[in-house]
Amino acid sequence: MTLLITGGAGFIGSHVVRLFVQRYPDYKIVNLDALTYAGNLENLRDIEQAPNYHFVRADIRDAVALKQVFETHRPDGVIHLAAESHVDRSISDPNAFIQTNVMGTANLLNAARAVWNHDVNGKRFYHVSTDEVYGSLGDSGLFMETTPYDPQSPYSASKAASDHLVRAFGNTYHLPFVITNCSNNYGPNQFPEKLIPLFIHNIRNGKPLPVYGDGKYTRDWLFVVDHARAIDLVFHQGKNGETYNIGGFNEWQNIELIRLLCTQMDEKLGRGAGTSAQLISYVRDRPGHDRRYAIDAGKIHRELGWSPSVTFEEGLSQTLDWYLANEEWLSHVTSGAYQDYYEKQYAG
Ligand code: NAD
Ligand code: DAU
Repeated sequence: MTLLITGGAGFIGSHVVRLFVQRYPDYKIVNLDALTYAGNLENLRDIEQAPNYHFVRADIRDAVALKQVFETHRPDGVIHLAAESHVDRSISDPNAFIQTNVMGTANLLNAARAVWNHDVNGKRFYHVSTDEVYGSLGDSGLFMETTPYDPQSPYSASKAASDHLVRAFGNTYHLPFVITNCSNNYGPNQFPEKLIPLFIHNIRNGKPLPVYGDGKYTRDWLFVVDHARAIDLVFHQGKNGETYNIGGFNEWQNIELIRLLCTQMDEKLGRGAGTSAQLISYVRDRPGHDRRYAIDAGKIHRELGWSPSVTFEEGLSQTLDWYLANEEWLSHVTSGAYQDYYEKQYAG
């Protein structure tokens, strides 16, 4: 089995690559990544010498380069995670999201179709997507696999478009595919533009914690290693043509989550109770901010026996420990371009 994983130098991708490299020594794992600001080979230092691991630097926007990679490695399976992934960046630069998430996915589908052509037996295109394609929930209800798509941000619209393309290639060209739509991930190696690592970084440095709007937006949080476990299961046991929702059964209003984070950080840093919470600062809301996401992960639980293995308090505590023990990683990713991004995003 040769498996091509795209975006394997990013946050979730690096956990997926590690799991597959360690768990399947007989597979050849090819990690294809353009190494954008979010891609970091430091995430994979512990496995980069493994004999079954190969890295290819390539951009999914480059159809010619992709064709070459597919002809060289002739993968049996693709797990596609490469994407522009941050909602705030999609608001300031939607085109980057359309190019990578829509056109890049189309390029990958074309490349897979070209090499698999008449022999799709045993082949699989796994597209990793997001719960944001379903739009925003009110106070009640859960996203099901059957919930109609209603994306609200340039990011979620680009992911919805890529999901549609994958299904269209399945329907039209019989490309074997599976799609998963997952809720918010957290854990080690997440780039500090996303809520949890950004706030850990700011608490560590005594900087304000910019809470958007009234702070009562709700997300369903899942530890990244549990997402990687789900991807392993769906890749091997999911049914062709199916969609599986993945979530943590773990909804938090942002402000409640931030208070928990502040409490755990005060304990770990030996600061007095309430110290970090004083950094909370309400700021201008994200335009078009989705109010609530919550996943019904019943299907993957019933059909494939998956459920999260880590409680939120444990996962969060492990995540904080990782960031506090890996200041070098944080200082590398927050130097240079990060400073410009931060100033523009959080300017008054
Ligand atoms: P990330 O931003 O941390 O990593 C993205 C990776 O893709 C990086 O390594 C980057 O270098 C690479 N990449 C970006 N553009 C590329 C291009 N043009 N060509 C090749 N590589 C490119 O993202 P993440 O948070 O790990 O998310 C991974 C996937 O999971 C995405 O498809 C995202 O939509 C999806 N997802 C994320 C979450 C979440 O909470 N983070 C939840 C559900 C689904
Ligand atoms: O639901 C899955 C999605 O979760 C993934 O598809 C995306 O790739 C991922 O980025 C994430 O999107 P969110 O927009 O939900 O995540 P983010 O960490 O950016 O924000 C989480 C919540 O926190 C959201 O309500 C916005 C709020 N927030 C975020 C930041 C960065 C703040 O209040 N302040 C901030 O500075």
